[in-house]
Amino acid sequence: MPEFKTSPGTRDILAPDSGRWRAFQDVFAKTVEAAGYTLIIPPMFEDLDVFLRLGEATEVVSKEMYDFHDKGGRHVALRPEQTASVCRAFVEHRPTTPWKVWYAGPNFRYEKPQQGRYRQFDQVGIEALGTDDPFLDAEVIGLGAKFFSNLGLTRVKLSVNTLGDAGDRARYSQVLFEYFSRHESTLSSESRATLARNPLRVLDSKRKPDQELIANAPAIRDTIGGEAKAHFESVLGALEALNVPYQVNNRLVRGLDYYRRTTFEFVSTVLESAHTAIGGGGRYDGLVEALGGPATPGIGFALGLDRTLLACDAEGAFAAPKNTVEVFVVDTVDGMHAQTICNLLRASGVTADRAYDLRSMKAQMKAADRSGASVALIIGPGEAQNSTITLRPMNSGEQYSIPRSDLVGEVLKVLRR
Ligand code: HAM
Repeated sequence: MPEFKTSPGTRDILAPDSGRWRAFQDVFAKTVEAAGYTLIIPPMFEDLDVFLRLGEATEVVSKEMYDFHDKGGRHVALRPEQTASVCRAFVEHRPTTPWKVWYAGPNFRYEKPQQGRYRQFDQVGIEALGTDDPFLDAEVIGLGAKFFSNLGLTRVKLSVNTLGDAGDRARYSQVLFEYFSRHESTLSSESRATLARNPLRVLDSKRKPDQELIANAPAIRDTIGGEAKAHFESVLGALEALNVPYQVNNRLVRGLDYYRRTTFEFVSTVLESAHTAIGGGGRYDGLVEALGGPATPGIGFALGLDRTLLACDAEGAFAAPKNTVEVFVVDTVDGMHAQTICNLLRASGVTADRAYDLRSMKAQMKAADRSGASVALIIGPGEAQNSTITLRPMNSGEQYSIPRSDLVGEVLKVLRR
């Protein structure tokens, strides 16, 4: 038989990590629901065309898409992110605005797998559609910062920038194209290829030969119009009033093509790999229109769950919750006692597990130990005959007999002590 393993870039998440994932999403939900965001669950695949709106020049679209023809001949793709799906849902359902939603779930990109970079990775995120009020930009960015601090992370740096309006972006792209073309011989071969496809992305290069050129490249603030500039100033002012620390980074362009005006990124300063970006987002004021809807501004972010947990590990923050039962039932008589007792306890709100297969007392006590339960309840032939149970608090080494009729009360006494 072949030995099956997970496909490259995918992982099984087992306990206790799986409990940590769920707790992560719970903390996120609490953070953003406090600001009026409601949950949206978009499908995991859509017509490929929805994702082509992310920009055909972006690598996410040109190289990393998991697309295929389904049995009905539709060209579909697994979602590489969820912003496009949220905008498609907005166009489909026309909710009243402002429409503020949050989401959590897996995304798929055919990337080269490595630490912090997977082909299936989880994100949590928010999107807010229907207004370009700079206070909304500050709210969205502030919620990202608040969430990281709710997790207990302290070494997260926030960079913000503006990409101006649609025309500004195209103009800046042309300015960069001309600038980098003048210095093409100094550029790395990878960046030369990027330059032909998408000049803005050259600014993202971490390659040595490109660094000096990038440092001296023209900044976007010199190309953007007055309105976008004023909007950005208001966003910065609102962030300051919210006490959200940030740095303006004129080189921050982000990987997806739909961004206009405000963009931002959260970087963990404790992660050492190339993948220190634990989240990012920005405005995408033309995306709803590109998907066939009315002109509707929008802003949001997504945070990488996998990477953020790596940052938590590095900072010793947000430990996996203890996910153990309170009581373990050992039954050496017939197994039926364990069933009845577990049922009774669970119905009374006490978490309980048991041993199976009528194994020896020693084997069942070992299982009780492994379970992490704080109380073991033991029923052997003697207890069965007297209608009693032996109660053993696992950390004490002592044990005593309780009447079976008062089982729940006695257990609660020990647990809630
Ligand atoms: P993104 O920058 O492509 O933006 O992804 C956001 C975050 O997802 C990244 O900062 C990173 O933490 C995580 N991430 C991305 N790719 C991978 C991967 N292959 N493995 C592990 N983690 C990954 C977006 O997806 C936009 N939709 C964000 C947005 C929302 N903009 C506006 N609204």
